[in-house]
Amino acid sequence: MKGLILSGGKGTRLRPLTYTSAKQLVPVANKPVLFYTIENLVEAGISEIGIVVGDTAAEVKTAVGSGEKWNAKITYIQQEAPLGLAHAVKISHEFLGDDQFVMYLGDNMLEQSIRPLVEDFKTGKCNCQILLKEVTNPQSYGVAVLAGDRVVKLVEKPADPPSNLALVGVYMFDHNIFTAVNEIKPSWRGELEITDAIQYLVTNGYNVKPFVVEGWWVDTGKQADMLEVNRLILDRLERNVSCYVDKDSRVEGKVVIEQSAEIINSVVRGPTIIGRGCRIINSYVGPYTSINHNCTISDSEVEHSIILENSQIHDIPSRIEDSLIGRNVVVEKSPIKPKALKLLLGDNSRVGIL
Ligand code: TTP
Repeated sequence: MKGLILSGGKGTRLRPLTYTSAKQLVPVANKPVLFYTIENLVEAGISEIGIVVGDTAAEVKTAVGSGEKWNAKITYIQQEAPLGLAHAVKISHEFLGDDQFVMYLGDNMLEQSIRPLVEDFKTGKCNCQILLKEVTNPQSYGVAVLAGDRVVKLVEKPADPPSNLALVGVYMFDHNIFTAVNEIKPSWRGELEITDAIQYLVTNGYNVKPFVVEGWWVDTGKQADMLEVNRLILDRLERNVSCYVDKDSRVEGKVVIEQSAEIINSVVRGPTIIGRGCRIINSYVGPYTSINHNCTISDSEVEHSIILENSQIHDIPSRIEDSLIGRNVVVEKSPIKPKALKLLLGDNSRVGIL
C-alpha cells in the first residue's frame, strides 16, 4: 500500500505566514505538521510515499528530502495549481499505479494510529474507507450521511447539514478512485472535489466504508487550530532539560529545552518546548508555548503561543498570549519618541492591542 500526502494548496487562512512559507511546515511543538503526517504513515507500515507539492515545492523538498530519516521513499508530484483534492489524486496516478493507497492531507493531525484501519483496508473488503469525526459546526466541512455501516451521501460544506459527521483528512482508496476523479466535473469554486469523487463511488455501487474517529483530529488551517494542536501535542511531552539554567530561574513541569539554550532569571512553566540557541532572560514562559530555534525573549511574558525561529521579543509590558509569531520577527518596546505604536506588518497580519 502507498501513501499520498497533499502538501500543495494556497493556505490563505494562515496568511501572512503562508506568503513566505508552506503551511504544512509550520511547527507544532517545534516539529513541522507535515512530519507528523509522514510519521503516521510510516508507523502504519507505509514507506512508499508521494507528496503533492505546489508553489512551496522547494521548501517542502528541502525540509523532507528523500525521506531517509523516516526510512521512507518519497516521490514529489508537482501540481501546477491547487485545483482540488481530487485533482491531486488524478495527477498522482502514475506514482500510485493500481495500488491501494492512503491519502493524508498534509495539514491534518490525528491522535489515533491509522495502522489498524490500514490493515483492515488491505484485506480488500471495500473500495474506499473514509474517516469521520463528530463536529459541532458541520457547515464548515464535507459531511457524510450513513445508513448503518455504509456511506450513502456526501455533501461539501452544507448550509443545512444532514449530519454532524465531518470528513477527516485521511482517506483510503483502491484503483477505482481514478474512474471517479476522471468522471467528475469541477465544482462552483473551480476545484475537483474529493467529496464528489467519493459520491461517484457511492452512486455507482462501490463499497464505501465509514470509520468514526474517537481521539482528537485537528485541521491546522487556521491560527486557533494551530494553537489547539500545539497544546494537545505539548501535553504528551516528557521533561528533558539539559540546557544552562541559572540559579535565579525556575523550570517547572513538562518542559523540553535543548542543550544550547539558556534560561536566565526567568520562570518556564510546562508543558513548553524551547529550541536550540534560545535565550530566555528576565522573562516568564508559560504553559502551552513552543519557542523555535534561536529566539530571544527578554523582560517579557509569553503563554499559549507558537514562536517560529530567529524571532525576538524584548521588554513588552503586557503578557503575549494566544499568538502565532513567524520567523525573524522583532516585537520590542520602542524607546524612540514620539511615544506611539510603531508597526511594520505584512499583508493580512493581525495585531491585538490592549
Ligand atoms: P485546504 O486546507 O482545503 O486548502 P488550502 O491549503 O488551499 O487552504 P486555504 O483554504 O486556507 O486557502 O487543503 C487541504 C490540504 O490539501 C492542504 O495540505 C493543502 C492540500 N491541497 C493540495 O495539495 N492541492 C490542492 O489542490 C488543494 C485544494 C489542497
